[in-house]
Amino acid sequence: MGRALFYDPLLSKNNQISCASCHSPFTAFTHVDHDLSHGIEDRIGTRNSPALMNLAWHTSFMWDGAINHLDMQALAPISHPDEMGEKIESVVKKLQQSKNYPALFLKAFGDSIITGEHTLKAMSQFMLTLVSSNSKYDSVMRKQAQFTPQQKNGYALFQKNCDACHAEPLFTNLQFENNGLEVDTTLNDYGRMRITKNKSDSLKFKVPTLRNIEFSFPYMHDGRFKTIAAVLKHYTSGVKQSQTLSVYLQKPIVINFKRQS
Ligand code: HEC
Ligand code: HEC
Repeated sequence: MGRALFYDPLLSKNNQISCASCHSPFTAFTHVDHDLSHGIEDRIGTRNSPALMNLAWHTSFMWDGAINHLDMQALAPISHPDEMGEKIESVVKKLQQSKNYPALFLKAFGDSIITGEHTLKAMSQFMLTLVSSNSKYDSVMRKQAQFTPQQKNGYALFQKNCDACHAEPLFTNLQFENNGLEVDTTLNDYGRMRITKNKSDSLKFKVPTLRNIEFSFPYMHDGRFKTIAAVLKHYTSGVKQSQTLSVYLQKPIVINFKRQS
């Protein structure tokens, strides 16, 4: 039932936008056709939608960690005026009046009276099933496959330069870090500081996972980079110094593209 809700545009004010509109299963549960998210009436948000996977291990949600429990997460997009623009009470009403949902809620929760709490819980249950654990990397770690020489080389470079923040096996340390992006002066997004009001959190964003990364472009909280090559260019020559820049990026990253055979 959580899956049905996730794909159901009934959750939005104009019945046109579902969670999957911005978190599409074809692209690691994010959107790839634009950098900032688009909601009802094509209203444009201020951030790029994150790919959704392995959320059971996450301790906070959103680029700035504004939400600390997955059960509360869905409330934010449902009520956000630029996303789904709807009230949870109206969602519950629409679900109660629908043909299918009362029976589905009865089956899932033993009660056909629909509540906001049950609606949110069902969606969390679905999102918790979005697990990535069967990549080539995972097979290699289980000693069921081997990296090619080039992949091995890349893995060594990754462990040296990236692993501190994009920690294995989730490829995120689940912390907030400043990776040296120049602030976009239109969006003026200072990330984690918006939540904590602490200057030491300025320009820090939740470290995103790198699983399924080739499918989840564009990259970064504002979708500023369209390709992995552009991301690597940032890390090797675009890192901007500032008070809160991570210690791991103080020294320039050198990536030698020479191939090993
Ligand atoms: C209009 C586009 C849009 C819609 C619709 C939308 N989202 Fe999102 N989602 C986003 C954006 C953008 C973010 C990041 C927001 C931020 O950091 O402030 C996000 C963040 C999230 C996250 C946090 C992921 C993480 O790693 O921290 C989850 C979980 C999520 N959305 C689930 C949902 C669910 C469930 C729905 C449907 C009820 C939904 N989203 C509807 C755009 C959307
Ligand atoms: C200091 C911690 C840190 C280090 C070291 C680091 N990153 Fe990141 N990375 C981040 C943060 C934080 C973001 C998100 C920043 C934002 O959107 O504002 C990010 C974003 C990314 C993204 C975009 C992911 C997405 O879904 O949008 C990619 C790809 C990436 N990093 C790859 C790398 C690679 C490759 C390296 C090593 C060369 C590396 N990172 C080193 C912290 C780090």
